[in-house]
Amino acid sequence: MSGTAQIGVTGLAVMGRNLARNFARNGLTVALHNRTVSKTRALVDEFGAEGTFVPAESAEEFVAALERPRRLVIMVKAGAATDAVIEEFAPLLEEGDVIIDGGNAHFADTRRREKELRERGIHFVGVGISGGEEGALHGPSIMPGGSTESYASLGPLLERIAAKADDGTPCVAHIGPDGAGHFVKMVHNGIEYADMQLIAEAYHLLRSVAGYSPAKIAETFRTWNTGRLDSYLIDITAEVLAHTDADTGKPFVDIVADQAEQKGTGRWTVQIALDLGVPVSGIAEAVFARSLSGHAGLRDASQSLPGPTAAPLDEAEAARFADQVEQALYASKIVSYTQGFHQIQAGSEEYGWDIDLGSVASLWRAGCIIRAAFLDRIRAAYDARRDLPSLLSDKQFAEEIGAAQDDWRAVIAAAVGQGVPTPGFSAALAYYDALRARRLPAALTQGQRDFFGAHTYRRTDREGSFHTLWGGDRSEVAG
Ligand SMILES: NC(=O)c1ccc[n+]([C@@H]2O[C@H](COP(=O)([O-])OP(=O)(O)OC[C@H]3O[C@@H](n4cnc5c(N)ncnc54)[C@H](OP(=O)(O)O)[C@@H]3O)[C@@H](O)[C@H]2O)c1
Repeated sequence: MSGTAQIGVTGLAVMGRNLARNFARNGLTVALHNRTVSKTRALVDEFGAEGTFVPAESAEEFVAALERPRRLVIMVKAGAATDAVIEEFAPLLEEGDVIIDGGNAHFADTRRREKELRERGIHFVGVGISGGEEGALHGPSIMPGGSTESYASLGPLLERIAAKADDGTPCVAHIGPDGAGHFVKMVHNGIEYADMQLIAEAYHLLRSVAGYSPAKIAETFRTWNTGRLDSYLIDITAEVLAHTDADTGKPFVDIVADQAEQKGTGRWTVQIALDLGVPVSGIAEAVFARSLSGHAGLRDASQSLPGPTAAPLDEAEAARFADQVEQALYASKIVSYTQGFHQIQAGSEEYGWDIDLGSVASLWRAGCIIRAAFLDRIRAAYDARRDLPSLLSDKQFAEEIGAAQDDWRAVIAAAVGQGVPTPGFSAALAYYDALRARRLPAALTQGQRDFFGAHTYRRTDREGSFHTLWGGDRSEVAG
């Protein structure tokens, strides 16, 4: 017999519990399950009045509560726990049922699970969910992978709970088969790392070069947030910088240990980018910057290393410099997104996902951490030309970055002159200049490789592969 719940959630920690409430608040009947039964009871006790919940104390009861085809969302710790839960439920399911993994799974795990379950007649949908616990409750940005057939059954439910962009569009769209959703979520997190690093560098420059206080920088960020940098991350940065520590009366940012942590998705983005051969240097620098900050012993041991003597700026110079930093931040941000979208494009080609990049930009416009006004423009760029080779090939972005470049270079020159590290800004500019360069020194690299390893090279003037007899008469032979 079929149950009445249109969807079920198993794993009722912060994310699962809020997602279940979001489904229920949007009129769906939601079956509930958690390994530790007390969490299921607590949810019903506290929030039962928000909608229709069907609590279940066993896997069998949970499955029986679901209407067919059954749709059950797993929100447990990513990794082995997800496999354990799949193995607990899959034998109880029937052909056509859909298991949805809303955790932060590695896309390769999602590909494996999808294949295994497909062979058993069960749809497996790996869903990237961004927005943290608040997003899960009020409307996240949702990136579902899996089959088109499973999306037909699941999509309308996800549209109800997803964040809505300003034009009312739900921030959810079918990304592509198997692991496509989790892949895009991974790159989203990588871009998030890069965005945060660039903002942190802007703060560091305003503090150390312009001599601004955290409160003044908060004001500056608030102003920036009314323009083209309008985004959630700039907004919360201003909040954090304006906050004063109640115990000491000092700016909050000054009493926090300067060692950034990470959960790993940024690292995955870089690892996978290396495998795909995609230069996501901005994201990589962001991951490395967090890593470097955490090496307290190494940093302590380096405190006496010499650096330049900084010359303080006067008020007018500082104001001019702040404007230049805005230009540098915006230009570097365009490069981060260019790199992230390149990685999605490369993943899509590698795995045959046919991902619509405009649609990806569109569903990041609300609910997620990197939501920003700027994403509307990225969507427009890809909508105008689906096969755009790079965001920097879009006329408008190219013009904007061109207009910013003098200030961008000046900011990096000032940072270098004053000894302020700007790995994100600098990597972004290096990427931009490398793409622009008519000739890269890679030709010399090829020469070296041929010299020590007979790796061969291609010539600019004729087809084929060649090797120079470096240890002999230096004549050229076919490689
Ligand atoms: N998208 C986001 O912004 C975001 C934010 C946070 C988390 N996440 C992801 O969402 C998922 C859930 O996160 P969370 O923070 O709510 O929870 P979590 O702390 O990652 O996991 C706790 C949940 O997993 C269950 N669990 C752990 N091992 C299990 C096993 N072997 N068998 C059955 N259940 C098991 C726990 O059950 P018990 O109660 O019985 O221990 C509990 O319900 C994770 O994959 C996480 O990475 C996403």
